[in-house]
Amino acid sequence: MKKIAVITSGGDCPGMNAAIRAAVRVALAHGAEVWGIRNGYAGMIAGDMKVLDSRSVGDIIQKGGTFLGTARSEEFKTLAGRQKAVANLEARGIEGLIVIGGDGSLTGAKYLGELGIKFVGLPGTIDNDIWGTDYTIGFDTAVNTALDAINKLRDTASSHGRVMLVEVMGRNCGWIALTAGLAGGAEIILIPEEPFSQEDIYKQLLESRAKGKQYSIVVMAEGAGSAIDLGKNIRANTGLETRASILGHIQRGGAPTVSDRLLASRLAETAVRALLDGKTDIMIGYRNRQCVEVAIGDAVGKKKDIDPELYHLAQVLSQ
Ligand code: F6P
Repeated sequence: MKKIAVITSGGDCPGMNAAIRAAVRVALAHGAEVWGIRNGYAGMIAGDMKVLDSRSVGDIIQKGGTFLGTARSEEFKTLAGRQKAVANLEARGIEGLIVIGGDGSLTGAKYLGELGIKFVGLPGTIDNDIWGTDYTIGFDTAVNTALDAINKLRDTASSHGRVMLVEVMGRNCGWIALTAGLAGGAEIILIPEEPFSQEDIYKQLLESRAKGKQYSIVVMAEGAGSAIDLGKNIRANTGLETRASILGHIQRGGAPTVSDRLLASRLAETAVRALLDGKTDIMIGYRNRQCVEVAIGDAVGKKKDIDPELYHLAQVLSQ
């Protein structure tokens, strides 16, 4: 294979640039021509793509976001849209794709595979919810951003003796909440995977006050409910003073951590080598400190469960 393209799609995440940079430079080192597709599958449909050289991916390893741009495309969900995208690749002689994104983006790649396009996917999402990889690109940075916020909120929570609620991202999954909550010493961690009752939360908060805790940190995933609503309910039902912060898209930006830069670079290298070797319909995951090939049918459409031991530990440590 002599001509490949790189695309970032769906929600962005810190480390996407490091992955693009590594993919381009590894491909060039193997004598391949590399194209960059702008703005995800929307750009593929519009034919918005250009050849990348080594210099074009300079000065991006340290930057969050994706210099290629990204988007969510409605047209790509239709067969006609995908056929247009494939025609644009074929017109330029592009034989294979490196697709960096989350579940929706990798599912899109799978559909392209059904139309004869070779591809290798990379798990890029802050949510860490892709099956077949211990970590996704962007997760470590997002968790550190959330942790930094929790640390700061602890300061002010302690000064005022308040219950501080922190809502982090995770529409369907609690990886960010669980990891940042555990590392940040949260008293209560609420995630979509574990049902909870608000009554129990009121009880737990009052009991911890009775035991001498001066303030409390509650970390919740957005998929577990609204921190603002829960804060109001806690106030109304316990009399404790509450404040809620929603971290939102702050978690999606920022300079990628060392872990994310290394993960992105290693996964991208393995992906490009696999693609140039003619492999397709796979995602490269990171398991037990190794880059591994995961069949795309296994990686997409199912969610990676949270680690029950981590959840249990978080509960024990919050006592
Ligand atoms: O998929 C990652 C994620 O950050 C989710 O946790 C969040 O709900 C969603 O993206 C928001 O994405 P956007 O605002 O780009 O639609």
